[in-house]
Amino acid sequence: MNGESTEKPNPRHIGIIMDGNGRWAKQRGHSRPRGHKEGAKATRAIIDACQELGIRYLTLYAFSAENWNRPDMEVRALMELLELFLSRETKTLVKKRVRLHAIGRIDELPDSAQKALKKAIDATKEFDDWHLTLALNYSSRNEVLDAAKAFAQAVAKGEISPDTTDWDDFSRHLYTSELPDPDLIIRTSGETRISNFLLMQSAYAEFYFTETLWPDFGKEQLRQALACYRNRERRFGKTGEQLASPAPTPA
Ligand code: IPE
Ligand code: IPE
Ligand code: MG
Repeated sequence: MNGESTEKPNPRHIGIIMDGNGRWAKQRGHSRPRGHKEGAKATRAIIDACQELGIRYLTLYAFSAENWNRPDMEVRALMELLELFLSRETKTLVKKRVRLHAIGRIDELPDSAQKALKKAIDATKEFDDWHLTLALNYSSRNEVLDAAKAFAQAVAKGEISPDTTDWDDFSRHLYTSELPDPDLIIRTSGETRISNFLLMQSAYAEFYFTETLWPDFGKEQLRQALACYRNRERRFGKTGEQLASPAPTPA
């Protein structure tokens, strides 16, 4: 084996559906916003853990387009928490050289949240080693619609021809054009659905579901998810035999 390690690599990009804040709070007799507050603490710890473990891209589902349907008080608490998170964490992101991105219909967020987001994104825009993406007012279906509109405009301007368009060309119009596809999608809280998160980008992602509620998800739980990921065989349409002994490339 030439002394080479056979250990499979960690994912380059992890997406997390951070679910279970409400149930965490309910179990303790707290209000739902208190659960979100605890969830924000877990978020901070996971951003650090990803950097320690060498995960370069982390995308967090923080607020879905469907989450506007929650009670006003909860939506307000979530927006306030987002602003607080950004105002407190930007310094840390800069110190750790993490670049912040946001995906979703950002222009529909409250003005003050948009401002805080823009400030944090601008402060970190020079960095390239670590990428933290917040999915806010995000919906994969809206993303496809927005991409289709942008694509149609590019066609109308003669910049692109639909006849020769492949997925790479089209996906440049998705919100995630600057990011690689996720390798691993984690969802906490025992729900086993995707809830409109990165539908296109997760075409070949591995999925990891855990009963742990988001406020209880820490570095150890992340390690477990990564160990499970490394045990998977990602085939991308090939057979297991092909992967075990790749055909020699023709001379
Ligand atoms: C996830 O936790 C946070 C957001 C959706 C913003 P939930 O608030 O969905 O928690 P549960 O599912 O009610 O427990
Ligand atoms: C998905 O969680 C959205 C976020 C984690 C931000 P939800 O709790 O809103 O999803 P559903 O409604 O249970 O599918
Ligand atoms: Mg939920």
